[in-house]
Amino acid sequence: MHCHWKLNLCGRSAAANPISWWYYAMISITEKEFTQLSRMIEKSFGIYLKIEKKSLVMSRLQNILLEKGFKSYSQYYQYLINDKTGAAQVELVNRITTNHTFFLREKEHFDYFSGTVLPDLKRNAKGGTVRIWSAGCSTGEEPYTLAMVIKDYLKEGGLNYRILATDISKKALSKAVLGVYPDESVSNIPLMWKMNYFTKTAEGLYKVSDEIKSAVLFRRLNLMDEFPFKRKFHTIFCRNVMIYFRSDTRARLLKKIYDVLEDGGYLFIGKSESILKNETGFKHVLPSVYRKD
Ligand SMILES: C[S@@+](CC[C@H](N)C(=O)[O-])C[C@H]1O[C@@H](n2cnc3c(N)ncnc32)[C@H](O)[C@@H]1O
Repeated sequence: MHCHWKLNLCGRSAAANPISWWYYAMISITEKEFTQLSRMIEKSFGIYLKIEKKSLVMSRLQNILLEKGFKSYSQYYQYLINDKTGAAQVELVNRITTNHTFFLREKEHFDYFSGTVLPDLKRNAKGGTVRIWSAGCSTGEEPYTLAMVIKDYLKEGGLNYRILATDISKKALSKAVLGVYPDESVSNIPLMWKMNYFTKTAEGLYKVSDEIKSAVLFRRLNLMDEFPFKRKFHTIFCRNVMIYFRSDTRARLLKKIYDVLEDGGYLFIGKSESILKNETGFKHVLPSVYRKD
């Protein structure tokens, strides 16, 4: 029988860190098991994991296997397909997603949003509500940044708006709903934002104000699923999410995004991403900013 247990050296190199050498038994994943699991992950969540991600997958999932007493990834896979509660998949996606984000990430987007998009939406809103969607919002910094940018802008006049923020990771979403961030998370935001839109907790953490929180509605949504929206959006931020998808998955998602965007609406994607010409009806406005004609 194939032995799934292997002794691994964890942490930094011995030379770099001679004192904190420690060893643990890591359950290794065979190539066949990796293919089986990665296919399931791509089918369910769109996330494509190349074989080069084997060690990453092992390090992210090994605690689940240890906690549940599984001796191999085949056993874990069986557990995933037999679980009817959905809990196993929730736990898997919590561990497998990369949730890196920060306030004012790709700041040029927010400059364009407040300088061009908001005045445009305001002109055309005609008293209606402007709907904004942060798709793949992770721990909340992106939708909260949008709410702060809008609040600043509204000092110049009224606009009804709503921000929907969705993600597939329940773990990331609970942090987002809590809205409490350490000092280093807010180090790059304007001082006025810290003063106006945060309160400091007894532990020295920064808590997003109720005013900002109330502007954002967080929901769990798998972007691979059919979208449940009744109304279209005026602006969609879907940044640094599609980088984990293969081109056919990305194309299907872009088509769905296109369909739920109002005519003249804006789409922001990550700065390292792009939409191929003729892939959709999106018109290129700026690098990583598009508009539905
Ligand atoms: C790197 S974060 C990007 C956060 C934020 N948009 C930004 O640019 O800073 C990517 C997020 O996409 C989410 N994600 C990945 N696949 C998803 C899917 N199929 N449906 C919904 N969200 C997904 C992950 O959970 C993760 O929080």
